[in-house]
Amino acid sequence: MSIALVILAAGKGTRMDSDLPKVLHKIGGAPMLHHAMQAGASLEPERCIVVAGHGAEAVTKAARDYDPDCEVVIQSEQKGTGHAVAQAEAALADFDGDVIVLYGDTPFISHETLEAMAEARGRSDVVVLGFEAADPGRYGRLVTNGDHLEKIVEFKDATEAERAITLCNSGVLSADRATLFGLIGKTGNDNASGEYYLTDIVALARAENLSATAVTCAEAETLGINSRAELAEAEAAFQARARAVLIGDGVMMQAPDTVFLSFDSVIGRDTEIEPNVVFGPGVTVESGAHIRAFSHLEGAHVSRGAVVGPYARLRPGAELAEDVHVGNFVEIKNASLAEGAKANHLSYLGDAEIGAGANIGAGTITCNYDGVFKHKTSIGAGAFIGSNTMLVAPVSVGDAALTGSGSVITENVPDGALALARARQDTKPGYGKRLMEMLRAKKRKLQEGAR
Ligand code: UD1
Ligand code: MG
Repeated sequence: MSIALVILAAGKGTRMDSDLPKVLHKIGGAPMLHHAMQAGASLEPERCIVVAGHGAEAVTKAARDYDPDCEVVIQSEQKGTGHAVAQAEAALADFDGDVIVLYGDTPFISHETLEAMAEARGRSDVVVLGFEAADPGRYGRLVTNGDHLEKIVEFKDATEAERAITLCNSGVLSADRATLFGLIGKTGNDNASGEYYLTDIVALARAENLSATAVTCAEAETLGINSRAELAEAEAAFQARARAVLIGDGVMMQAPDTVFLSFDSVIGRDTEIEPNVVFGPGVTVESGAHIRAFSHLEGAHVSRGAVVGPYARLRPGAELAEDVHVGNFVEIKNASLAEGAKANHLSYLGDAEIGAGANIGAGTITCNYDGVFKHKTSIGAGAFIGSNTMLVAPVSVGDAALTGSGSVITENVPDGALALARARQDTKPGYGKRLMEMLRAKKRKLQEGAR
């Protein structure tokens, strides 16, 4: 059965108190809209329509960033969830199959749940995703009769008896395209909110002798985000789940609660992650690597056997081959370190290529930026960069070449050469002692004058 997703993302999200449209607030480093799109994408839909309204331009861009083929339709006035879905009708006029409605602010619906809904569609015309709410609050209530779903009543419109129901509406719903839009066309806005409710299609379906049923999922999956506090809760839920998945896949963490992950973090089996490590977007770590405490990684690739940190920073484009060591207070940006290369202390390596087995001394800096342009540094295999070397790019140091400590290297160093670029030492016997005596005498004189 072909599937089309309709993702509702037009709402303002007033309670977020933010200039950013609600669905663009991030969880695990990705807009919550991406999480909703990712959940839907697991069904391999033929079409994906995002309904945008508030902040439509930014929402459109974010939707296309995730899926360049997704279509965005605009709901210029928010007249309710039914009205929002109706905006996708023209875009889906030529589509033949099932439509699944998701909310852009409900990021955690699982693939298994959507599969169960798709399966239930085989026996029912309309399928609604419900959940048993610990505190049903203001959710819409599912009114059932045995296996049948009879109607959904919004809290505002519900009777006391209906409010006592704990089976609630998640908002996710599925029906065949023609059925869905046919039913939405019959909804009105004569209700407590004056809105066109998507939920009304259940009673309308039953009135036409179509069948409706509810599939249920855990409440945690239907967590919707309306405020900053709920966003923080959602982030915590995401982190807890992401850590648990990695631990289940054989990643070692001593203090999982202190490790922060992104939506796309990939970490291999037997990799050890020490406390207080942050994985920003775009990080892949192969098996058997070791990420030590207080390291911060984003857009980086770390190979098997590499050791990173403690206190290392890997920025986008950091590419560490097998058995590379990157130690404390080393920052790496857009630079590759070939197998076995080491930069153990206090360095900045940016826009650089570092050969296998090279040793980068403490305090080495690639001076890659002239204020306008970025330039490249290349260091050959087995090179030895002396401590506190400044490599003024563009510059290259050949294979097995050496630079003396404290050198400012502005010219290319050929293979096997030793480059010294610093002032020669001038040692004056006895001068140190004499200088100290002079200074102390001066101090004594000043103190006597002050008395
Ligand atoms: C909706 C359901 C309710 C359910 C609850 C679950 C209806 C009428 N009610 O209520 O049964 O328990 O979700 O969270 O469907 N949106 C638009 N355009 C609009 C209105 C809404 O795009 O005109 C989007 C919102 O941005 C949001 C989603 O649809 O992502 C849900 O809208 P919201 O106003 O939060 O609905 P609820 O009142 O919470
Ligand atoms: Mg809501």
